[in-house]
Amino acid sequence: MIEVSNYDFFDYDYAQYWKVRQYEDCAEKHLLEKIFNNKKGKWFIDIGGSYGRLTPTYYNSYTNPIVLDYSLKTLQKNYSTIKKQFPNVEMIAANAYHMPFRENMFDGGLMVRVLHHISEPTVYFNELKRIMHNDSSYVQEFANKVNLKASLRAIFHLNFKFFSKEPYQQPTSKNFEGTKTGEEALFFNYHPSFVSGALKNIGFEIQNKFGCSYLRFQGLKKILGDQNMLKIEYFLQKQLKTSNIPPSIVFETKLKKVNDSNEIITGELKDILVCPKCFGELSFKENSAHCECCDKTYMKSENIWDFRID
Ligand SMILES: C[S@@+](CC[C@H](N)C(=O)[O-])C[C@H]1O[C@@H](n2cnc3c(N)ncnc32)[C@H](O)[C@@H]1O
Ligand SMILES: [Zn+2]
Repeated sequence: MIEVSNYDFFDYDYAQYWKVRQYEDCAEKHLLEKIFNNKKGKWFIDIGGSYGRLTPTYYNSYTNPIVLDYSLKTLQKNYSTIKKQFPNVEMIAANAYHMPFRENMFDGGLMVRVLHHISEPTVYFNELKRIMHNDSSYVQEFANKVNLKASLRAIFHLNFKFFSKEPYQQPTSKNFEGTKTGEEALFFNYHPSFVSGALKNIGFEIQNKFGCSYLRFQGLKKILGDQNMLKIEYFLQKQLKTSNIPPSIVFETKLKKVNDSNEIITGELKDILVCPKCFGELSFKENSAHCECCDKTYMKSENIWDFRID
């Protein structure tokens, strides 16, 4: 069993985090809007999508977007707000390592600010490959281990081992995201070559590399203000996109796989759902789904299907 960062257990309200981070929020949305602007498709998955912060960036490109997250409480709490603004969005509670979908269903996918909670990226990328079809697009953001600030710090401490491709697990005392103060958290910073290598091994071709949040330095916001920071950010996103300087890196990828039946399912959500445990067929009642194969029953509560398994 692979450990999962459970925001419900820690009672962490992620929406609060963004109330004071306009620069980072706009910087990410600006970059993603550019990437999704020329994409089109049907089923799209935002993995670890939380309260749908990034939904505006892909909503007009894909007709059937799904926000999937392990935090059932976050999805339940934000269901009405998201549905009001983005009626085509479906929201599902599930584990990124075991997703409740048929093979080869998705035209597009996105993961932002979640890979740091994924301790086994290869297991996750294999599961992702199962549900995406040949030639589908996938956008992967991750916290860059060798960003400028971290690299300078390592050089200053003559810590040259730091530059290896091995993931770096942040000490909990430095990062409380998804935790209550003092609780254990999963928080990995990844080397760009490690992530690109893992993606390529599985069949995701890297089409573009981008950087984001170049100016994430404490104190700079007070001096420059968000609007000036964003002007500089957009310039740096263009000029330094292939560098390893920024704290956040984004890979735009295309999946190449064989054995793709390419069956197009035009129906509704239930038509693409299967049991995440054994991939068996589900028989649906109003608020429950029963797997005929392994006998497991999944429930829908407060509008959200709960397909979480560990
Ligand atoms: C830092 S938030 C990012 C939310 C969103 N992607 C954004 O950028 O606004 C991380 C999210 O990943 C979810 N998460 C962590 N591990 C997960 C897993 N194994 N499966 C599904 N979701 C997961 C958490 O519940 C949380 O909502
Ligand atoms: Zn089953």
